[in-house]
Order: sequence, then C-alpha cells, then structure tokens
Amino acid sequence: MNTARPVNTARPVNTAPNTPPATFEELYGHAPEGEWAAPGRVNLIGEHTDYNLGFVLPIALPQTVRAQARRRTDGVLRLWSAQGDTAVTELRVADLAPGSVAGWAAYPAAVVWTLREAGHPVDGADLRFDGDVPGGAGLSSSAALECAVALACNDLYGLGLTAPELALLAQRAENAFVGVPCGVMDQTASMCCRPGAALHLDSRDLAMRQVPFDLAGAGLALLVLDTRVKHDLGDGAYAALRAGCERAAALLGLPALRALGPADLPGPLARLPAELRPLVRHVVTENERVTAAVAHLDAGDLAALGPILTAGHASLRDDYRVSCPETDLAVEAAVAAGAHGARMTGGGFGGSVIALVDEDAAERVAAAVTAAFRAAGHRAPRTLTAVPAEGARRLS
Ligand code: GLA
Repeated sequence: MNTARPVNTARPVNTAPNTPPATFEELYGHAPEGEWAAPGRVNLIGEHTDYNLGFVLPIALPQTVRAQARRRTDGVLRLWSAQGDTAVTELRVADLAPGSVAGWAAYPAAVVWTLREAGHPVDGADLRFDGDVPGGAGLSSSAALECAVALACNDLYGLGLTAPELALLAQRAENAFVGVPCGVMDQTASMCCRPGAALHLDSRDLAMRQVPFDLAGAGLALLVLDTRVKHDLGDGAYAALRAGCERAAALLGLPALRALGPADLPGPLARLPAELRPLVRHVVTENERVTAAVAHLDAGDLAALGPILTAGHASLRDDYRVSCPETDLAVEAAVAAGAHGARMTGGGFGGSVIALVDEDAAERVAAAVTAAFRAAGHRAPRTLTAVPAEGARRLS
C-alpha cells in the first residue's frame, strides 16, 4: 500500500530563527509559472446538511492558502509549505495511492491523484505553499489547500475545468485519497464564493446563487471566535453521523434526508429507531433554517439572521450532538454580551463559533467571550472578523 513513500525528503531548507521562509527559487532552482490562492470559509447556516443533499450558506474568508507552482513533465511532485516544513517532500505521481501519503502533503497529493484518475495529464509539479487560514479551527484550511492545487493544475495543464467541477474533484480527493467522507460544501465555498455575498448552495444538484451579504452596509460585523480546541472524537464521529443519516434515509426509503420537509417529520420520526430521530430532526430543521436565512438576506434584514444562528446552535448541541463545552460557552457568552445570534460553524467537536454583532459591539462581545473563557479555565479564543471575500483565483 505504501507505494508513494516520499523520496529524497532530505533536501534541507534554511529554518534558522528569524530567517525569511525559503523562496520558490531557493527550493527548486527556478521561478514559478504562477501563483494561485484559495480561501477558507465560514458557514453561516446549514451544518451537516451537505452530505444529506440539503442546503448550505457559506462565505469565503479573506484568509487564503497560496500556491506557487511550476509544471513538471517527469512524473515528480515536489511539495513544501512555509507553515513549518524543513524539507521538500518529493513523490512520484505514478506511485500515488489512497493512504500512501501522510500529513498535510496528502491533500495536494490527493488532488493530483484524483486529476490523474479522471484522465487528466498531470505529470508532476513543483509547489510551494504559504497561507494564513488557521489550521484545525474548523475554517476549512484543508479544502483551501486542495482548491489552490486544483486551480493551479487546471491552469498549468490547460484542463479547462470549471470552478464547480474543480470543487467536486477536490471533494473526491478528500473522500477517496485522504479518507475523510466530507460533503461538498467546503470545496465549493472555496472555489465559488464571491466578495460581498453568501453562497446559497443546493448540495443535491449544485445549483448555486450568490446572495448579497453586505455586513458593513447593515452596520453589522461577523466575529469568528476560534476556540482553539479540537476534540479527537471528531474524525470517527463525523463518519458515524453521516452513516447514521444514510441509514435513516434508507430505512425511510428515501434517496437522502433532503427529501423530508418539516411537515413530513412526525410520521417518519415515529418509524425510526430512537437513536436516529434527533439526527433526522436536525437535518430537516437545519434545511428550513437555511431557507429562512436566505429569505431574510434577500429582504435586506441581515440582523434577522441572528436568532436563526442561535437556534441552529441549539440543534447542533441537543440533536446532532457535535457541540462541546467550549463552543457552547462561546455562543452563550456572545449572546449574553449582545450578539444578535451565534453558533458553532463547521463539522464540530471544537473549532470556531461565529457571532453576528453590531459593528460597534464587536470588541465588547469578543472581550466578553474571552473573559468567560478565562473564568472557565480555557485558553483565550483567537478572534477574526469575517468579511465575505473572493473564491479561488489566480494571483499572477
Ligand atoms: C465539514 C465537512 C463539510 C460539512 C461540514 C458540516 O466541514 O467538510 O462537508 O459536512 O463539516 O456541515
């Protein structure tokens, strides 16, 4: 299985303290052909709905993963990241196989493998990564990494794939090569989001609409409070929850839980084993929350999103059970300090909470959450302000 062992990983790179990170030229001895960027995301509402073929409403963050890249034609893939790498990882594209690459390098390798599996002539590349999407914070740094590679390969090799096609390909890379059974939201958000808008995505047919989301115009701000915890439970639990939803759909004779509306709920719930009922209730009510949120945004009433966020958090906490004490505390403290609403964003078991606040209350709410964390003995959360930003693009 372990056929794509890195070869020649001992290429040393200067990592002495206070020295700037190695340049592309220093790493590879020639200039890159271009540079591409793909953003992280926060999801406003619609959590654990994507793999149930439901609705999601993410925005792209200004924080990106940037990939400088150059084509190779000798079957070699070289990877280096400014976020902590001391040596270049060198892989042979022909040897790539699911499970064969460990650590962060699995994500770019996965995209190259998936492109090749789909018949695209990607014969290697030199890639240098840098970025500012916080890792492990539920902000989709891995999807950003995948999308930066997918877009770079698309341009370098003239593949002519569209942004939604590249998103699907990146999702497949994560499913089939990395082994994470994620849905399509993160990669689609990274590829397709637009500045000033939230992406209303129907995960069943990938129909999408850019919904205006002018926070500043409404006198609002969206805080991202990274709790800096990631409970280990996360990995296996995500797959188990997805399997639970698929089992519920199968027991009900449905293609996916998306097929159920809130009016349909009582009958099907009564027919399911007790442990599956809260999962179904979350998915069905969460899809409704996305629809309600979009209606408010279309009506220009952004503050009305607040109670929907808080209701979504309660559903994640009580029905889907992917919350944790730190995310619950951040939501409670933000709402108590005057946020219009708050909720955990992303897969769960830690990660980040978003809070919709009046612009002039942002500092006060962030300080209140920090104080509540201190009082509870948790590390202070890291705070960002999210501005709906541009999806993946070529920089040079
Ligand atoms: C992770 C997955 C997404 C989605 C969310 C939960 O971010 O990658 O596909 O399922 O969790 O909404």
